[in-house]
Amino acid sequence: MAKSRSFFVCQNCGAVAARWQGRCESCGDWNTIVEEGDSPAAARVTRGRAFELEGLTGDERPAARIVTGIGEFDRVTGGGFVPGSVLLLGGEPGIGKSTLLIQACAALARRGARVIYISGEEAVAQVRLRAARLNLADAPVELASATQVEDILATCATGKRAALIVIDSIQTMHTEAAPSAPGTVTQVRASAQALLRYAKTCGSTIILVGHVTKDGQVAGPRVVEHMVDAVLSFEGDAAHHFRMLRASKNRFGATGEIGVFEMTGLGLAEVANPSAIFLAGRDASAPGAAVLAGLEGQRPILIEIQALVAPTSLGTPRRAVVGFDQNRLSMILAVLEAHGGLKLGMHDVYLNVAGGLRADEPAGDLAAAAALVSSLTGAVLPADQAFFGEIGLSGAIRPVIHAGMRLREAAKLGFRQAVLAQAQQINDDDRRAGLTLRPCADVAQLVAAIAQTAPRARRE
Ligand code: TYD
Ligand code: MG
Repeated sequence: MAKSRSFFVCQNCGAVAARWQGRCESCGDWNTIVEEGDSPAAARVTRGRAFELEGLTGDERPAARIVTGIGEFDRVTGGGFVPGSVLLLGGEPGIGKSTLLIQACAALARRGARVIYISGEEAVAQVRLRAARLNLADAPVELASATQVEDILATCATGKRAALIVIDSIQTMHTEAAPSAPGTVTQVRASAQALLRYAKTCGSTIILVGHVTKDGQVAGPRVVEHMVDAVLSFEGDAAHHFRMLRASKNRFGATGEIGVFEMTGLGLAEVANPSAIFLAGRDASAPGAAVLAGLEGQRPILIEIQALVAPTSLGTPRRAVVGFDQNRLSMILAVLEAHGGLKLGMHDVYLNVAGGLRADEPAGDLAAAAALVSSLTGAVLPADQAFFGEIGLSGAIRPVIHAGMRLREAAKLGFRQAVLAQAQQINDDDRRAGLTLRPCADVAQLVAAIAQTAPRARRE
């Protein structure tokens, strides 16, 4: 009889190690390696039977997608769920995954589809309370609190085929197919596999919820990512109301789409025009604020970048950012000093992206630089001016992608001028957006332009 041996699995990435280690060699995380049950049976090579290979064209017609009716959700999935597909919805605890899914379930059930919601974390009463609070109690969603995958699949197999099954969350599931303790990577993977097989054979769409923690304590849903058809992530700053749904993988649609929601007292509300919301409450009469004509995925979004540059009282001046990359700020400051003639060494610098958003794309450099110059000099930027462009170490302002989309979004929100790279190609179609273009070759020109055109703020 083969001797059973334990093996060691990284709870973050699923890599198998021969012995215990403090650090996973595959993903580099610390303290994630855990001993798990018996070693998998050695794969026996048997003689297989040959099967037929086929060409790329066939007579399959794509099945109709299942549309929830929540526009921002359907947009991210690429126009609704594909029957038989499995989606993973990741996000930090408390961000609103369960809320989003109970709303999607209710919307779909109200359209007459059979929808099953399995909660492994909350009791039925808790889910009911939330549904009641969201005015969804009348929707014919079938609900259960369960964690045993075999029982869940047996339940789903009785009655009409469900259009959608939600498993909240995959980390709480366990299956008899794997020997390890619940919550381990092996369990998560085996449970996901069983659910996947069910979806493919029965044609139900399954959504798996996966918690992502920063310290990797819970068995990471990363091991599930390569198995599923789509990986959606629900993101947002817990201190703000805005939430963004993004697809980082989608076998049935584009990955650039994002959906924007606002967490209200009545659940998640769709935000059809995010730019208008993110710019609401803007005080355009104070120095230190610039509007970035940005992109989130494939969607243009206007966001305000705020800067505060003030003489420091400390030996080492502070540089703090919220929603912006610290290294990019350091680079922009260095370039403004070296090529823009600004003296920032004795100033504290704070940079903030309004609304709890992140401005991570390089196109945000120009807006950040403009906000910094504006705050330092006290020159107020024109309220109808939007910025986009990348700043290079030489001080040059470089073109960015999708200028046309940015210009059209800015025009839609009433902006009249755009500051952009001199080398940015603008075609006639983009010009029709009607904005006055103010090309800038380098940061020296930007500094000069701000000093020249902007009215100075009155200082007491
Ligand atoms: P939840 O969906 O439980 O998060 P997750 O499943 O991702 O862990 O939502 C958690 C938060 O959402 C909770 O802290 C309160 C807030 N919330 C609202 O603000 N309004 C609402 O209507 C609901 C249902 C929740
Ligand atoms: Mg939840």
